[in-house]
Amino acid sequence: MIRKFLLYLFCFCICSSLMAQQTRSAGGKWKDNQGKTINAHGAGMLFYKGTYYLFGEIKKGKTHLVPNQNWEDYRVDAGGVSCYSSKDLLNWKYEGIAMAPDKTDTASDIHISKVIERPKVIYNNETKKFVMWMHIDREDYSFARCGVAVSDKPAGPYLYLGSVRPNGQESRDVTVFKDDNGDAYLIYSSEENNTMHICKLANDYLSPTRNYIRILQGQRREAPALFKYDHKYYLITSLCSGWDPNPARYAVADSMMGNWRQIGNPCVGKDSATTFYSQSTYVLPIDGKKGGFLFMADKWNKTDLEKSGYLWLPLHVKGNLVEIYDNKK
Ligand code: DGJ
Repeated sequence: MIRKFLLYLFCFCICSSLMAQQTRSAGGKWKDNQGKTINAHGAGMLFYKGTYYLFGEIKKGKTHLVPNQNWEDYRVDAGGVSCYSSKDLLNWKYEGIAMAPDKTDTASDIHISKVIERPKVIYNNETKKFVMWMHIDREDYSFARCGVAVSDKPAGPYLYLGSVRPNGQESRDVTVFKDDNGDAYLIYSSEENNTMHICKLANDYLSPTRNYIRILQGQRREAPALFKYDHKYYLITSLCSGWDPNPARYAVADSMMGNWRQIGNPCVGKDSATTFYSQSTYVLPIDGKKGGFLFMADKWNKTDLEKSGYLWLPLHVKGNLVEIYDNKK
C-alpha cells in the first residue's frame, strides 16, 4: 500500500519535474544523457523489464512547405525512428536510431522523401519479438498506409517489413494497443481522416486481421492515444487541423470492439481549448490501478519542425471521467 502511494507520489514528482523542464513554447530543450536535445516526436513508450523505451520520429533539417497542397503541408526529410531508455522517466539514455530511413531507394516506403510518423512498439510474448507500427505516407499524405517493423531487442535495430492499408482502408495517424490478454489492435484515422478504425492484429502482431470496426464516424480525428483503466477503454484524440493545436476529445468503451461513447474534452482549465498548445501522442500507465497515467503530447513548431517540443502531464481517471491539468496554468 505504502509502496503504491510512493509510486503515485513519484509519478507526480516526475510529471512536475518534467513540466519544469519542458519549454512552454514550441522549442524543445529536453536533453538526453549526452546533453543533446531529445528528438522523438509523435512518440510512444514501451515498458519492458523495468526500463522505459521511448520511440519517436526524428525531425531534423530544414522544414519546407510541400507545393500545391490545399493545407499547410510542412515537412522535413523523414529521419527514421529514435529510441531512448530510462529507468525513471527523467533521465534518458540515447539508444540510437531504432529504425533508419532509406537514403538511396526513392521507391522505398521509408525513403527520406516519405513520411514516417507516430511509431509505437509492443512486445509479443509468444514470438518474443518487438513489433513497431507507424504511419507511412508520401509527402502529400495520399499513400495513407500503416508500416510494420520488427526486432529481437527492445531498442532495435528494427527491420522494416512493409506497409499495408488494413482491409483496403486508408490509415494515417496511428497507435497500437496491447490488451492484458495479449490481443493487440491498430487504431488509426481512416476514410480521409473522417472516421477512426480499430482493427485487431494477428497473433504475431505483424498484420491486421479482417476484424475491424468504424468509430467516431464523420468526426475528423487524429493523434489517437488509447489506454485501459478499471475494465474500460479510453481513447483520446485530437481534432483535425494539420500541425495546429485544437481541443482534444475522448471516448470510452467497455470493450475494444464495442460501442465507443463520446464524452468530451479531457483537458481542464486555461488553454484546454488547444490541449495546452499540444497534440496527443500516447498515454502511459504509471499506476494504472489508481487511475494515474502520463499524458504525452507534441508541441509542434510547424515552420521549423525540428524545434517542436513536448508536453507531458498527469492524467487521472475519476469514476469514468478523464482529466488532464496543466498545473502551471
Ligand atoms: C497532424 C498529425 O497528427 C501529425 O502526426 C502530422 O501528420 C500532421 N497532421 C501533418 O500536418
